[in-house]
Amino acid sequence: MGHTMNLVLFFVAVIAVPISLALASNEKPIVRILDSEEDAAVALAEYTANLSEKYIKQKGSFSVVLSGANLINTMRKLLKPRYNTTIDWSKWLIFWVDERVVPLDDPLSNYKLAFDGFLSKVPIPKSNIFPINYNKSPADVAVDYESRLKKLVDEKIIPLSASKFPKFDLILLGVGFDGHVASLFPNRPQRYEKKRWVTFITDSPKPPPPRITLTFPVINSASDIALVVLDKGKADIVAAALGGAVVTPSLPCAEVKAEEELTWFLDKDTASKLK
Ligand SMILES: *[C@@H]1O[C@H](CO)[C@@H](O)[C@H](O)[C@H]1NC(C)=O
Ligand SMILES: *[C@@H]1O[C@H](CO)[C@@H](O)[C@H](O)[C@H]1NC(C)=O
Repeated sequence: MGHTMNLVLFFVAVIAVPISLALASNEKPIVRILDSEEDAAVALAEYTANLSEKYIKQKGSFSVVLSGANLINTMRKLLKPRYNTTIDWSKWLIFWVDERVVPLDDPLSNYKLAFDGFLSKVPIPKSNIFPINYNKSPADVAVDYESRLKKLVDEKIIPLSASKFPKFDLILLGVGFDGHVASLFPNRPQRYEKKRWVTFITDSPKPPPPRITLTFPVINSASDIALVVLDKGKADIVAAALGGAVVTPSLPCAEVKAEEELTWFLDKDTASKLK
């Protein structure tokens, strides 16, 4: 009996490993190389508008997870015709992939950046926008954000992935000079988190030090992910991530996967070192 059981387990192990490898190798990202930053902004708007239409048709809402800095600016074409009049903004749900633990009116807040540059210009209901609840303790902010996500999952506003993490429709990500995404840095333990949905960091190598961030299991449960890199200075990082160069520790941006489709948006200069 015990012997048969061991044999079964042996076959499960032998068969399961190649299957999971085969699946992983099918997850090739789409790489779009645009002539200029302006063209990339146009392409990103069309891509986002298409996904908005698809998911609103499919499930009645469109959950979008924002980052900070340049990405809000790259989303600017969505604020103009035809997109600003054709997108059903009332169905958008807005989250943040990471946030600095500062008050929401602080110039360093990703929420403030997104509000000033984007959210204040489109009619997304305020109740559909989910910024952090500011508190001085980053640990408490992370617990609070995670419990609010759990509530949205319980209410079936956000679906659960097969691996039991919240499944967002679209996550928009930038990449740092060190290859970080969200606030998941190469030399920090947060990038290896496997259980929590949201974690925190108090010594981010990029200021300001206290932040919260979605974890890799959540990011990689998203249906669609756009990795947007429009910076010649990041050409080497992009080439290493997409060319499969061995980097130790590995680059967080090279570990991003999406359930449906991962799309890199690059301009010619940023893609110049790709083989
Ligand atoms: C968006 O949808 C239109 C119309 O279906 C299609 O022609 C276009 O290729 C799509 N664009 C992207 C970026 O997916
Ligand atoms: C769409 O953008 C145009 C150009 O900026 C603006 O004139 C118009 O009022 C906007 N429409 C809506 C519904 O936001």
